[in-house]
Amino acid sequence: MNIPSASLDEASIQGPTSRRHTTPRTWPAEGYTRAPYWAYTDPDIYAQEQLKIFRGKTWNYVGLEAEVPEAGNFKTTFIGEQSVVLTRAEDHSLHVVVNRCAHRGNMLCRDAFGKVKKLYCVYHAWNYNLQGDLTHAAFSHGLRGEGGLPADFQLSEHGLQKLRVATLCGLVFATFSDEVEPLEDWLGDVAQGIRRVLHKPLKVLGYDTQRIHANWKAYHENPRDSYHANILHTFYGTFGLSRQSQESGMTLDTHGRHVYFYTKAGTEKKSQDFDATSAALRSVNDAMQLEDPGILKWRDEFGDGVSVQILTTYPSFVLHQIANSLATRQLIPRGVGESDLVWTYFGFEDDDDALTQARLVQGNLAGSAGMISVEDAAVCEMMQRAMADGQNGESFIEMGGKTLDSGGNTKLSERAIRNFWHNYCLDMDLA
Ligand code: FES
Ligand SMILES: [Fe+2]
Repeated sequence: MNIPSASLDEASIQGPTSRRHTTPRTWPAEGYTRAPYWAYTDPDIYAQEQLKIFRGKTWNYVGLEAEVPEAGNFKTTFIGEQSVVLTRAEDHSLHVVVNRCAHRGNMLCRDAFGKVKKLYCVYHAWNYNLQGDLTHAAFSHGLRGEGGLPADFQLSEHGLQKLRVATLCGLVFATFSDEVEPLEDWLGDVAQGIRRVLHKPLKVLGYDTQRIHANWKAYHENPRDSYHANILHTFYGTFGLSRQSQESGMTLDTHGRHVYFYTKAGTEKKSQDFDATSAALRSVNDAMQLEDPGILKWRDEFGDGVSVQILTTYPSFVLHQIANSLATRQLIPRGVGESDLVWTYFGFEDDDDALTQARLVQGNLAGSAGMISVEDAAVCEMMQRAMADGQNGESFIEMGGKTLDSGGNTKLSERAIRNFWHNYCLDMDLA
């Protein structure tokens, strides 16, 4: 068949990449009080994030120690788009390796969880121990004097790519970076929000994974956004688990990378300005009652009256306490306009049956169909659709003020969002 040469050029060779934006991006002059919509839609920006953020100077959550309790246990997961494996070795040490054979790049572990004596590549049977060291390469000495690997081949030079690993209160984090500071230094003051909740050995209760049709940053902003919590989520305000009129606060680390905020149910302080605003909120409706109010009965298990604490670490981790529902959320980017959110619900090893039951019932507040959190993914998807191709427009982030510090510790603020974009621009060389 005679194919005109013109038909083989851009359309077939470049394909979708021909729509990529190629000129350098310029951040709005207002800085971190604006986020241009191209940051959520540009495939080139997305590709750079993989390198500069997920493979950059960040600690990324990969799982719970309780998910790999015994020697030989492994869990496969992701940091950014990169598949990695968390293993527990014979000496009980934890390791995280890239899930890619050092020979020709085959994926080693395909199951989400398992128990093995070694990591085995099905393609040509290279074997690795649980620390990621290569221990055997099939036919490396050849056969009857033929084939085999070169005489200078060293097993020790062909192990899996290893990441730094650190734990805090049963959470396991890993990083590709040799430079990022130790985990607890990196978390700064936000580590205290982790220690408050994870104060004894954990027990996993279940999982829920949802695909969100939005850029990962749309979701990452959401649990940093203490301003929306009592407005978007009608269940919170209507049934009193979290209201702006309650005692609350917000804590950031000194770099503004991480944040947690809390509220205390039952501490309502009525004021005229609250009454004036709440009259216009859909989320405050004292007339509405639940037929079965059981889901609202929660035990103050930490003894401090905090009914909700939402904690976020840059760039991909959330820890929540919503009444007695406890869960981690891991954010995994799946392309510029898609993300997965993996929810892991847990309690503690010494929970009594009533508390476990309360955690399971209140688990209905969270997750992909949760009575509170269902709205978060919905809003992220509506944002993504409204941004369209992202070629114009930017968000406005001045609630609480215009600087990284303004807003202080009030929850009625977008301070944590401004700090996110500040760190994002530094990491992405966009500042
Ligand atoms: S790709 Fe793994 S052994 Fe060849
Ligand atoms: Fe929310």
